[in-house]
Amino acid sequence: MRFPIIAGNWKMNTTVAEAIELTGQVRKGISNGFSVEVVVCPPFISLAAVKEALKGTSIKLGAQNLYHEEKGAYTGEVSPLMIADLCEVVIVGHSERRQYFGETGEIVNRKISAALKAGLKPILCVGEQLEDNEAGQTAEVVTEQLRSSLEGISVSSDLVVAYEPIWAIGTGRAAHGKPVNETSAIIRRTLTELSNQEIAQGIRILYGGSVTAENIAEFLEQSEIDGALVGGASLKADQFISMVEQAEYIYFPNNPPTKDLIPW
Ligand code: PGA
Repeated sequence: MRFPIIAGNWKMNTTVAEAIELTGQVRKGISNGFSVEVVVCPPFISLAAVKEALKGTSIKLGAQNLYHEEKGAYTGEVSPLMIADLCEVVIVGHSERRQYFGETGEIVNRKISAALKAGLKPILCVGEQLEDNEAGQTAEVVTEQLRSSLEGISVSSDLVVAYEPIWAIGTGRAAHGKPVNETSAIIRRTLTELSNQEIAQGIRILYGGSVTAENIAEFLEQSEIDGALVGGASLKADQFISMVEQAEYIYFPNNPPTKDLIPW
């Protein structure tokens, strides 16, 4: 069985003080007895402080990006080794990185490779533009993104893929469960071709794009979707906690979460 992941991408939001505050609110609602893997991805500058604020919980820490070189004269960049010192997870190839910072498939490929080498679990983001979606090109676009991002890389089930249609990100216009499930099945088929059936069956595929506590169940109930990458709604602790709880109930119906809240 694939353990579901609910990951919060805080993007370029929260000062250090706000990140600590949000972490405190989130940890109050998430029991250590939960089986869902919970990840928060604050800005780089808050990673150390949030790591401290997460102590004693099973909530994992993730970064939102990385540079592919281990160290050197790359002013302003953050290396895989620095991230691996603090985090278990790193988001790679988010559409905002591709769109605003010119990240190509080749760059994403180097980053995935560097992340895996450093022992990080990369969340590789793929997704199509609205025009591609309307032209029925979703499968082609997503397959090509996977191929270029993973070319030459020995894919393992440490990889997580987030399918995030660009038109659904931050727009309040989420996709729907069934088409996302179909695209996730195509993603898994491509991953099988790039590795083998056993590895591909173990890779978690998340949906991202305007996920909220109100609509998350529609995605989590699908057989090929193994969780969510949540942007805006992860900045509201009550929403984020509710999404984790819903995942716990949907994936582990016979083992309802015990409400032993972590004291803060
Ligand atoms: P959103 O962002 O939930 O705010 O749409 C998702 C993402 O970009 O990962």
